[in-house]
Amino acid sequence: MTEERIFNFNAGPAALPLPVLQEIQASFLNFKGSGMSITEVSHRSPWFDDVINDAVDRTKRLLGLDERYHVLFLQGGASLQFAMIPMNFLGEGKSADYVNTGTWSTKAIKEAAILNKAHNVVASSEDKNFSYIPNDISFNADAAYVHITSNNTIKGTQWESFPDTNGVPIVADMSSDILSRPLPMDKFGMIYAGAQKNMGPSGTCMVIVRDDLLATAEKDLPSMLKYDTFVSKNSMYNTPPCFGVYTIQLVLKWLEQEMGGLEKMQAHNEKKGAMLYEFMDGSDFYRATAEKGSRSLMNVTFRLPTEDLEKEFIAAATQKGLGGLKGHRSVGGCRASIYNATTMAAVEALIDFMTAFKKKQ
Ligand SMILES: Cc1ncc(COP(=O)(O)O)c(C=O)c1O
Repeated sequence: MTEERIFNFNAGPAALPLPVLQEIQASFLNFKGSGMSITEVSHRSPWFDDVINDAVDRTKRLLGLDERYHVLFLQGGASLQFAMIPMNFLGEGKSADYVNTGTWSTKAIKEAAILNKAHNVVASSEDKNFSYIPNDISFNADAAYVHITSNNTIKGTQWESFPDTNGVPIVADMSSDILSRPLPMDKFGMIYAGAQKNMGPSGTCMVIVRDDLLATAEKDLPSMLKYDTFVSKNSMYNTPPCFGVYTIQLVLKWLEQEMGGLEKMQAHNEKKGAMLYEFMDGSDFYRATAEKGSRSLMNVTFRLPTEDLEKEFIAAATQKGLGGLKGHRSVGGCRASIYNATTMAAVEALIDFMTAFKKKQ
């Protein structure tokens, strides 16, 4: 139990910017003079129209999206996208390329297989426990899309730059690094991201999809599983995840107005990541698990000399108000998730704690 807010290193749901939480708190009982909270106003009201339209506009501005891109807010998390993508874009005679860089890519591939859709795993880093991002991949020129996971939340790796796919649109799961840096949008036919790491509460998935890919989509699918349904209704075919969209809107406003856009956000993230990795590289006690050149600036995965020490480290950190440092249950070890909202002060506090913990051994 604590009365104070902790330094939150959770992988997701994860830390959100404090000014955003404060704004939600301040406007919660009476949203914009409606006399209702945002969780009570109709999604068909002008209040919510303003929220969703502003969220779309800000996303377009931040990422520099032209009129070919549609920004959607869907439900079902990022995991539903693993199935919706092959359902929509792998009709008869079509095939997709997948790059397997860890747990989430594996899940995306599994859904294509369950649906019996033709797909090729053109590269994988499984040979080294997914500790790196493959390069020099040879893609199929006739693929409908190339699927990648831009940041691997569990294994702690991230694509530093994006591959040349000979014009085949990349479809990227950016759940754990969306809006952490500018993107070469021309390469992407679609981006999707569960909100619960860099944008807002869980359950809402942002989808950005480009016209040319959309035009290839299957038509005879259930309405709720078709991108067209949501494109034509501004994400409001059914009741959208209103609170999620509202939180995302505030995070986007924070990104634009307080952080100064994605280039500045990237510089900030690079500084935080460099501090933590340099500290570990100079230590014979902490060992970063991802290979240099593939290291994630969002999820820093690391090991201590023994599992017992890791347990002790996580417990002692929690005591000191540094939460969420346990690695994913499937891989063990430790993980510090340092998304956009993680402050430099949080990273400094972590390094101070790590220094003191090591000294005590
Ligand atoms: C990269 C990545 N993709 C997909 C998911 C699954 O997201 P959701 O729980 O929203 O379905 C996660 C984790 O939450 C993730 O880290």
